Amino acid sequence: KKRIGLLTSGGDCPGLNAAIRGVAKASYGMFDCTIIGIKDGFKGLIHGQYQTMTPKDFSGILIRGGTILGTSRTPFKKMRKIEEDGIDKVQKMRETYKKLNLDCLVVLGGNGTHKNANLLREEGLQVIALPKTIDNDIWGTDESFGFHSAVNIATDVIDRIHTTADSHDRVMLVELMGHKAGWLTLHAGIAGGADVILIPEIPYHTDKVLEALRIRHQTKNFSILAIAEGALSQKEFHMKRKQVKREREKLKCPSVSYCLADEIRDKLGLETRVTVPGHQQRGGSPSPYDRVLATKLGAYAAKLIKEENYGNAISIVNNDIKATPLGEVAGKLKLVDEENVLIQTGKLIGVSFGE
Ligand code: F6P
Repeated sequence: KKRIGLLTSGGDCPGLNAAIRGVAKASYGMFDCTIIGIKDGFKGLIHGQYQTMTPKDFSGILIRGGTILGTSRTPFKKMRKIEEDGIDKVQKMRETYKKLNLDCLVVLGGNGTHKNANLLREEGLQVIALPKTIDNDIWGTDESFGFHSAVNIATDVIDRIHTTADSHDRVMLVELMGHKAGWLTLHAGIAGGADVILIPEIPYHTDKVLEALRIRHQTKNFSILAIAEGALSQKEFHMKRKQVKREREKLKCPSVSYCLADEIRDKLGLETRVTVPGHQQRGGSPSPYDRVLATKLGAYAAKLIKEENYGNAISIVNNDIKATPLGEVAGKLKLVDEENVLIQTGKLIGVSFGE
């Protein structure tokens, strides 16, 4: 009989429960097993908080947002730091794993989670990681569940902004999630018909953004900008994050969009408004696409457990699900590059990336 630990870590997102259900249903169906739900991510593994699950626990959760297991952020760089809280976290996790007599620990999470999972693998634990994130920035996989749902939500925000922009002749700036990766902003921006798309990977020239808007407003009465929260101007790009924050504080703008909105108002004389949807982008029921993706990936994890094929991150490449060694994935980010087909498409249809 196999004993499987399940945990979700990092920011929650739609599709986590669908993936959990996929792992559980496929495991129960394929082999004799006990599933133990670890509470609140790695925190639960450190402090020994868990619960033995039953098949009933996995019923009716397919369409539920968030995670039935709870989650938390446990930064990789703090994992080995004992002096900060006096706890040998790695040792504690090893102990819980041993005490529970686990054959495998399935972790569902983003980049940080994959790094932690790899650390546990190096410590001799049998781990499998599943890719969840609205940022879509996990290296080695074309897609992660949560991303499509977030694109749907963000696109809906941009769609709804159009009527106010048009009715009031305004420039509307929509700030979307993504500190390092611009996938969400790029996809929602293209899907929502944004006129300007600014992402962290492409530092923008304020002058170029202003010029694009000036030209557009010769014939149009409104504009929409889709801006990733981590977007940086050319000037800011070479600064440390802390310095960027200080500079923006001096200008009294809470984030990139507010700074830019002021520039647009002052230099072009256009009325501006900023909308920041925030955690809404991670909330609610997963899209049908994400439900399918999460179920496929979850069921594949069960297949790997059956084969006792551990130490992998599950990825999807060209529609093929595969197991990639965790050591290859951990610590790398999948970012948007200039050659990206959506960037090229955007340029062809006249979107400004502020270059
Ligand atoms: O990693 C996912 C993400 O949603 C980022 O896009 C965002 O910047 C961050 O999490 C927000 O995290 P928190 O929920 O801790 O505020």
